[in-house]
Amino acid sequence: MTTIRFIQHDGREQAVDATDGESVMRAANDHGVPGIVADCGGCMTCATCHVYLPHEWFERLAPPTEDETAMLEAAVDPRPNSRLSCQIIVSADVEGLIVNVPKNQF
Ligand code: FES
Repeated sequence: MTTIRFIQHDGREQAVDATDGESVMRAANDHGVPGIVADCGGCMTCATCHVYLPHEWFERLAPPTEDETAMLEAAVDPRPNSRLSCQIIVSADVEGLIVNVPKNQF
């Protein structure tokens, strides 16, 4: 298990125990984290699993693929630190990962 910390736009925080090998999106959905809609179920065709990562975490993870970068352009209010949470895989390497949930996905 790996702890992922989801922080809502209003500062509410929810720490979840995620299973290694699943996506951060799946961990959010399985634990009732609001704001990560994930309409496509992780097929990378919806961008409704869009999240922001703190700079230090964004730099630490492998960069988004070209396909993810292209899909992020369809997200609402993308920023340089945007990621699709369905493309971040849980492992010990992301223990304590902080994920900021955009306001506009509610
Ligand atoms: S769940 Fe649809 S792009 Fe991530």
